[in-house]
Amino acid sequence: MQVRTERDGDVLVIVIDNPPVNAGSLEVRRGLLQALEELEHDSGLQAGVLLGAGSSFIAGSDLREFGQPLQAPQLPTVIAMVEACTKPVLAALHGAALGGGFELALACDARIASAETVVGLPEVTLGIIPGAGGTQRVPRRTGVARALQLVCSGERLPASQAVALRLIDAVVPGDLRAAAVAYARALPGTKQRIRDETVPVEDPAVVEQAAQAALRAGKGRPAVVAAIAAVRSAATLSFDEALAGERAAFQRLRVSPEAFALRHQFFAERDAWKLPASQPACARAVQVVAVIGGGTMGTGIAISALDAGLDVLLVEKDAPALDTAGERIRTHYSSRVAEGKMAAAQAQVRVVRLALTTNWRELARADLVIEAVFEDLAIKQGVFAAIDSHARPGAVLATNTSYLDVDAIANVTARPQDVLGLHFFSPANVMRLLEVVRGGQTAPDVLATGLALAKRLRKQAVVAGNAFGFIGNRIYNAYRKQCEFLLEDGAWPEEVDAALQAFGMAMGPFAVADLSGLDIAWRMRKAQAATRDPRERYVPILDGLCEQGRFGRKAGAGYYTYPDGKRAAASDATVRELITQASAARGIARRAIGAPEIQRRALLAMVNEAALLLAEGVASRASDIDVVLVQGYGFPRWEGGPVFWARQQDRATLESDLQALVQAAGYGGVLGDLSVLLS
Ligand code: NAI
Repeated sequence: MQVRTERDGDVLVIVIDNPPVNAGSLEVRRGLLQALEELEHDSGLQAGVLLGAGSSFIAGSDLREFGQPLQAPQLPTVIAMVEACTKPVLAALHGAALGGGFELALACDARIASAETVVGLPEVTLGIIPGAGGTQRVPRRTGVARALQLVCSGERLPASQAVALRLIDAVVPGDLRAAAVAYARALPGTKQRIRDETVPVEDPAVVEQAAQAALRAGKGRPAVVAAIAAVRSAATLSFDEALAGERAAFQRLRVSPEAFALRHQFFAERDAWKLPASQPACARAVQVVAVIGGGTMGTGIAISALDAGLDVLLVEKDAPALDTAGERIRTHYSSRVAEGKMAAAQAQVRVVRLALTTNWRELARADLVIEAVFEDLAIKQGVFAAIDSHARPGAVLATNTSYLDVDAIANVTARPQDVLGLHFFSPANVMRLLEVVRGGQTAPDVLATGLALAKRLRKQAVVAGNAFGFIGNRIYNAYRKQCEFLLEDGAWPEEVDAALQAFGMAMGPFAVADLSGLDIAWRMRKAQAATRDPRERYVPILDGLCEQGRFGRKAGAGYYTYPDGKRAAASDATVRELITQASAARGIARRAIGAPEIQRRALLAMVNEAALLLAEGVASRASDIDVVLVQGYGFPRWEGGPVFWARQQDRATLESDLQALVQAAGYGGVLGDLSVLLS
């Protein structure tokens, strides 16, 4: 039984008990209907209370249901019965009341919550809209403009804010159940339905502005468009007409390709945390984190750890570098305060937990050490030898390297089992992805510690094997290389960028390259030159740009020029000349290449590389690759990731297109095995 009833005098407590998070399910809905019957028909009962067992009220609906034909009774039937019940029903919230759970609460006569409760309607982030009155009841309390923000962003509101918006009536301290029974008993005998309230009158310009802002923030995706229409209809249609419109949009969207992709990504993100059951392990305790190197990454990692309530010890090579690093972190916090994004006291607490030193002996108090010095194997090995001689036994030792061999670093220590890679993305305090790299000798509890740290830092972890570029950079490199081929074959950088942005990538590859700086790639290319097979298809355009000092945005020019700091719309004559020369040198007659070909080739390159690295075991699940690309590389979430994309394609065409792609790459191209990737 997922719903049970318990009597407390003349109040019926209806307990929803569907572990772990009381997700709404067919069984829950059936149980609720039965309990509401009991409340209605028992003359000894005066009011009802809806209460969740365990850690939450109802944290949302069972997403798997949304991809299938829905079985009756559906949520709107339960909600109609709450509203039709002649006796008042109170929702007593704790933990999370999200999606359908919050919609159910909004249909009750009153809502109280314990202080830690969060409420919200995250449906739009899953490619659908609330389908049980959320878009109609919220604006009756908050007004349309604020409801547009809430529904379109999927924002989670803490209880105190929900009270301020009148979405919750009261926050109660102490025993929620006892408070709820007392509250329910004191409710007036008449029904207090939000549906009977009118939508507050608002300035149409303010509503329009909110709609435009929501549309922009939601990139004009279908769910956002539908959510805006549904919320706005609250002010123009009768409740029942608008409710029917909302339900129709929900039913249409829940089986849309985009909703399937977003649900895939949701489950992929959850699965990414799972380690093989064959290696059970307990994470080691971490409170003091030492960061070695206070450059771009080191300071970002330090901020991320401070924000998570950890103590940070930042180690630099000399006093001036240490001062710069400390200043950077302090400036970060003072600007957060100045922008009103953080209270001064809160910032102060974080800064106080930061210790700066050049004395390696202090490392002895660290539970976990993260190295973020220059990307150079010899330097990193030197640093790890020093860490090894100062860190306490049992401390976890991590490297933030982007490409280097984690084992070659681990092996300079006497404790390679304690070493792993923690590959953060830039800016490290903003980007959610964290690749947790398993070295050849990494102990299971060290890997578990990496995952636990990721959770503490509110990152999305993905476990990767120790191979050049791990998962993300390896796939991204294959993608970028294909985009360079496109330049040689006839496209201009702005055409490639525009096509991939139209597909949904956050930025085009050449705009990204300019932003991160071409010199890093140039240095790596030079380092690899000696071992590169001359028969490989190698595009020299980037080298040409760097030889002219065009290192990207920071130099004012790269693939594009940046007059007044803003990117020029198109590549200039110098760049076009370099590209044309490259085509000629390879004997290619340049041709116009349309957006569909650009998009398909770029995606195929990712898919092929994904198949290769899955077969090599660098990724342990195909869906992990989708998480990495979406969370770390701006791949559109609504496309589900490159593997999900590949699964939507016609298999035979995909196979033959991949073969053609690998053939066109020429010498050294390797065809991935799709059967492994798509099974
Ligand atoms: P950076 O050049 O900004 O910072 C490196 C810092 O390490 C400098 O402040 C330097 O003074 C310090 N340092 C050098 N040798 C040291 C030593 N022996 N002891 C103590 N401190 C020392 O470099 P960045 O960009 O922060 O990169 C650091 C690492 O993070 C590299 O391995 C890089 O590949 C990796 N990484 C960089 C990303 C990026 O986007 N910049 C993204 C992900 C990883």
